[in-house]
Amino acid sequence: MMEIAIDPWEITEIKNYDALLKRFGIESFKDILRYVPKPMLYMKRGIVYGHKDFSRIITAIKKKEKFAMLTGLMPSGKFHFGHKIIADQMIYYQQLKADCYIVSADIEAYLTRNIPIEEGRKTAIEEYLINYIALGLKPKNVKFYFQSEGSKDYMNFSKFITKKITFNEIKAIYGGDITPAKMISVLTQIADILYPQLKENDGPKPVVVPVGFDQLPHINFTRDIAARLKGYKFVLPSATFNKFMPGLQGGKMSSSNPMSYIALTDEPETVRKKIMKYAFSGGQATIEEHRRKGGNPDVDISYQWLTFIEESDKKLKKIYDNYKSGKLLTGELKEILIGKLTRFLKQHQNKRKGAEKLINKFLK
Ligand code: TRP
Repeated sequence: MMEIAIDPWEITEIKNYDALLKRFGIESFKDILRYVPKPMLYMKRGIVYGHKDFSRIITAIKKKEKFAMLTGLMPSGKFHFGHKIIADQMIYYQQLKADCYIVSADIEAYLTRNIPIEEGRKTAIEEYLINYIALGLKPKNVKFYFQSEGSKDYMNFSKFITKKITFNEIKAIYGGDITPAKMISVLTQIADILYPQLKENDGPKPVVVPVGFDQLPHINFTRDIAARLKGYKFVLPSATFNKFMPGLQGGKMSSSNPMSYIALTDEPETVRKKIMKYAFSGGQATIEEHRRKGGNPDVDISYQWLTFIEESDKKLKKIYDNYKSGKLLTGELKEILIGKLTRFLKQHQNKRKGAEKLINKFLK
C-alpha cells in the first residue's frame, strides 16, 4: 500500500512543504502569483503556498463571473492566531465578491474528538463566528451552517457519494486503521466541499477552498469523486493550501495547548507573559555572543510570527537583517512582536463588542 504522508486527524508538524506538493500533485502558488488580480499578504509572503486549479478562480475574478468560497472550522478550543489565517482568506474572497460558505464541522468534532454537538455549536459561535465578524466578515452572501443541520439534499448527497468509492481506496488514502467515524467525517466533508454546487445553490460553479496543508487528502479525494459523479456536472473544486503558523515553542500550534498559541481574546499581560516565557528564540546564549554571531530569524518564532502579522515588507526585512547581524537582540525582537500583537488585539477586542450584535444575521 501507498505510504501515507498526511493523516488529517493526527497532524504533528510539516517540515517539508515541497515534498508534499510533489507527493500530492499540488502546484506551487508562487508560479501563478503574478496572475492574481489583488493578491493578499499571505499569497505574496508564500504563506499560501500551494494550490489546485486556482487559475479557474483567477478567471472568474477577472471576468466578474460567479464563484464561491467554502471552508470549514473545527469547533474546539479558543480562536487563535493560527485560525486567523483562514479567516483572513474568507474575508479576502468575500471582498472579491465570492459567495461565502462556512461550515462548522460539528459532526466531525463529535465523531473524532468527542465534542458534544451543543458544545460545538457554542464554540463555533462564541469563538469562531464572532471573531470572523470582528475581523471584517459581512453577513451579505454568507451561508454559515452546521454539519449537523445541513439541508436535506446535502445530507442525502453525503451518503450518495459512497456509490462511487471503495474501501480499498479509502484505506489507500487514509491508512488501514481508518475508523467508521472518520469515514463518515470524510464523506461529510466531501459533501461540504461540493455543497455550493448543488442545485439549491445554483451550481455548478467555480469554488475555492482555502485550507491548511493537513486537509490535502480530503481535497484530492473530493476532486476525484466530483469527476466520477458525472450527472452533477461539477466544476472540480479549486483549493489553496496555507502553511501553518508555528506554535510559540516551535512545533505545532494547538488549541489543546495554551502555551502554544495567543488567542484573539488574550489580555495584553497574557500576551507579554507568553511571548517572553515561551517564544522559542533563535538568538545566542549571551548578548556578547549575539552581537558577534547574530541571531537566526529562520528558527526564531517571534520573527516567524511577524512574517504572518507585519504587513510592511520593508519593516520585516529590516528586522530580519538586524536580527541576523546581531544588532537586534532577542528581547528587542520580542518587544516588537508584543507591541504589534497588543495594538492589534486592542482594536480587535473592541470590534468584538459590535460583532456580538451581528451574530444573529449569520444564523438564519
Ligand atoms: N476537517 C476540517 C478540519 O479539521 C473541517 C472541515 C469540515 C472542512 N468540512 C470542511 C474544511 C470543508 C474545509 C472544507 O479543520
